[in-house]
Amino acid sequence: MPLPSQSNKIRSLPPYLFAELDRKRRAVIAKGADVISLGIGDPDLPTPAHIVSAMQQAVTNPAYHTYPSYNGSTEYRQAAAAFVKKRFGVELEPEREILGLIGSKEGLANLQFAWIDAGDIALVPEPGYTVYASSTRFAGGTAVEMPLVEQNRYLPDLEAIAPDIRQRAKLIYINYPNNPTATIAPRSFLEKVVAFAEAHSLLIVSDNAYSEIYYDDQQRPMSILQIPGAKARSIELHSLSKTYNMTGWRVAFAIGSAEAIGALGKIKTNWDSGIFGAIQSAAVTALTGPQDCVAQSRQIYRQRRDILVSALTRMGLSFTIPEAAFYVWVKVPGGQPSINFCTSVLEKAHVVITPGIGFGKSGEGYFRMTLTVNTERLKEACERIRGIL
Ligand code: MLT
Repeated sequence: MPLPSQSNKIRSLPPYLFAELDRKRRAVIAKGADVISLGIGDPDLPTPAHIVSAMQQAVTNPAYHTYPSYNGSTEYRQAAAAFVKKRFGVELEPEREILGLIGSKEGLANLQFAWIDAGDIALVPEPGYTVYASSTRFAGGTAVEMPLVEQNRYLPDLEAIAPDIRQRAKLIYINYPNNPTATIAPRSFLEKVVAFAEAHSLLIVSDNAYSEIYYDDQQRPMSILQIPGAKARSIELHSLSKTYNMTGWRVAFAIGSAEAIGALGKIKTNWDSGIFGAIQSAAVTALTGPQDCVAQSRQIYRQRRDILVSALTRMGLSFTIPEAAFYVWVKVPGGQPSINFCTSVLEKAHVVITPGIGFGKSGEGYFRMTLTVNTERLKEACERIRGIL
């Protein structure tokens, strides 16, 4: 007998963009090609040594071998509070306004279940991280897209959101520094979002996973919580993944409204059992220890960005100069569909790049490159792409 039919929810989900890209990459590697991956945003730089060594110590401690605290250890939440205070000047109560997450993707996906019922709406940026829309649908709601277009500096036009949609919406997602466009939101936009959310009784979900990857020290990305009044109606997700090259460790935290933090915590206590204690201990070292490793990563990404920007300019391609995050958002040459272009780059140049359409329909006509390979490989990737244009 066959297995029972899968749920409508799972059947409505497209395959995860990066799992698909990885499948295509492996197929080309299997044919013996030397593939350079500028696909997923996964830092190639190692986790800083002092964090690894904190983990080595912690993992031998039997106190960490039992179930961890559901919400994150007191030390971890205090470390997150200290980091946020130092970086953004925002005061948080660790017990009520901070929650440990097994990666920010986990938090982003789970929080839907605390607010979204059938018929409810979440406003999501597109192009955008696919999890915002897929988790809304998975929770039974509708994701209404807010297009991010170049003419509007990749900021959503809040005025364009129809009155009935504003009425039914419960959540509004923002993501600056932005994936995939690598732009930063100005303070004035964050103020507008807070006023809009206040006027329409929305919870702001701010994905701030790239806050520490920026290129201009005079233009550091902000936290939504820096805007007066924002904390009461926001939940913001921070991740150690990109900041400390810890994507594989799965460790992040949410900050914001105590009510929102409590609601997400309630979902999570039913579904997961928290972050491994030894990882939380190493994360405390990351957040409270020396931060020069983060400045070094920024320096490396800046150098790579400059190399890629020069190469793209030489190729005659059009793109937005990245302000933050380790991505470059480039126009597909010759008006061809982004999937066709990226497939041809993979097959002919053996370079993985991400088709813009994978991030939403306004992403059509673009592709995304990452800065997560060393300068030699980056130059080689550019040479190969130039060779097939
Ligand atoms: C990306 O490449 O967009 C992200 O790294 C994917 C992720 O964080 O899951």
